Amino acid sequence: MSKKVKLGIIGLGNMGSAHVDFVKNTSTAELVAVADHKKEKADQFAEKSGAKAFYDGIELIKSGLVEAVIIATPHYDHTPLAIAAFENGLHVLSEKPIAVHKADAQRMIDAHKKRPDLKFALMFQQRTDEAHKKIKSIISAGELGEIRRVNWIITNWFRTQYYYDSGGWRATWSGEGGGVLLNQCPHQLDLFQWFFGMPKKLTAYCQFGRFHNIEVEDNVTAYLEYPNGATGVFITTTGEAPGTNRLEVAGDRGRLVFEDGKISFRRSEKPVQEFSDTAKTSFNTPDMWDIQIPYPANTGAMHQKVIAAFSEAILNGTPLIADGEEGINSIELANAMLYSAWKGKAIELPIDSLDYETILKEKIAGSRYQKSVVEAAPSADFGKSFGK
Ligand SMILES: NC(=O)c1ccc[n+]([C@@H]2O[C@H](COP(=O)([O-])OP(=O)(O)OC[C@H]3O[C@@H](n4cnc5c(N)ncnc54)[C@H](O)[C@@H]3O)[C@@H](O)[C@H]2O)c1
Repeated sequence: MSKKVKLGIIGLGNMGSAHVDFVKNTSTAELVAVADHKKEKADQFAEKSGAKAFYDGIELIKSGLVEAVIIATPHYDHTPLAIAAFENGLHVLSEKPIAVHKADAQRMIDAHKKRPDLKFALMFQQRTDEAHKKIKSIISAGELGEIRRVNWIITNWFRTQYYYDSGGWRATWSGEGGGVLLNQCPHQLDLFQWFFGMPKKLTAYCQFGRFHNIEVEDNVTAYLEYPNGATGVFITTTGEAPGTNRLEVAGDRGRLVFEDGKISFRRSEKPVQEFSDTAKTSFNTPDMWDIQIPYPANTGAMHQKVIAAFSEAILNGTPLIADGEEGINSIELANAMLYSAWKGKAIELPIDSLDYETILKEKIAGSRYQKSVVEAAPSADFGKSFGK
C-alpha cells in the first residue's frame, strides 16, 4: 500500500466536520486524530472516522500520532495552533484567513521559517476553480497588456441577522477580528493579490453594522493604487440581495469581465495607449474583437484538491495550491482596509502591523463577545455557502 500522510483535524465545526469527509476521500491522507473543545463533537467524529479524539488542539499536536494538521478553528486560534504545530515538527494546512491580523500571520511565518522542512499551506480552494485558473493564466501571459484598472464587486455574500446571531464568535472584534473582510472575503482578497499583486496604497470606507446588528464591518468600498499606476476598486457587503459578483479588468490590450460564470474578453486590435498617442482622429477607439473565453467545467470538491495537494507535497515535494507565506497578502489587504476606515485616511502598504494590532486590541477590549459564550451548533444550510 502506498504511503499516506497521518493527518489530524483541529476544530470540527461547519468547516472541520466537512474536512473529515474530504480527508476520507483523499488517497494520500489518512485521518488519525480529531480535536474539538466540544467533547461530544470530538467523540462523534472520532467514532465516525476511526480517529482518536482529543478535546484540545494542543493535545492533538503533542500526541505524536500525526505528521500534519488541518486547523479549522475560529481565526484567532490559527496562530497559536500553527506555531505549536511547527514547534512539534508537524506540517500545517490552515483554514483561511491565515490569521486575524498581519502581525500574527508574520509570527506563523517566522515559526515556519525555523522548520523549512515542513509544509505550510492555506485553504484557498478558490484557486482551484477553473475560471479563476483561466483568468490567472490570461493575466500572467500578458494577454491584457499592462493592467490599468481592476474592479471587483463581490456583494453576493448575503447573510441574515439569524446567521450572525447563531455563532457567538462571528462578526465580533474579540471572536473574529472583523466582518465581511475577515470571514467571507479572504478568498476574493487572495485572488485579487494572486491576479494583480499588491497595491502600494489604499483608501477604504467601511460601514460597521450598517445592515445588521453587529459591531464589525458589513459594507466596504476600497480604492487601491498599484505601483504601475493602475487603480482598483473592491466592493463587498453581506447586506445586499440580489448580490453581484463581477470582476472587471481593463488592460492596454482590452477588457476582461468575469460575471455569471462567463469570462468575456473584448480584445483591442492595437495597444490602447499607442492608439491614443498616435491617432489622427478624436473619438475613434481601436477595433475590438469579442471573445468568449472557454474553460473546463469544475470537477471534484475544491477543498479536497487543496488537501490532496498538501499531502502530496509532504510525500513527494510537489507544489502546494496556496503557500502559507502568501496568506499574509490577503490579510494585509483586509487589515489595510479596516485601518484606513479607522484612521480616515489613505494607507501606504506595507501597513504598520503592530499599530494595527494595538488598535484591534482596543476594539477587543470593548467587544460584546466573551469567549465563555456557548456557541450554537453548525447551521443546517452551511453547505450551501462554504464552497464559495
Ligand atoms: N475555506 C472555506 O471555504 C471555509 C468555509 C467556512 C469556514 N472556513 C474557516 O474555517 C474556520 C472555522 O469556521 P467554522 O465556520 O467551521 O467555525 P465553527 O464555529 O463552526 O467551528 C469551529 C470549531 O472549532 C472548535 N475549536 C475552537 N478552538 C479550538 C481549539 N483550540 N482546539 C480544538 N477545537 C477548537 C470549536 O469548538 C468549534 O467546534 C474559520 O477560520 C473560517 O474562516 C473556511
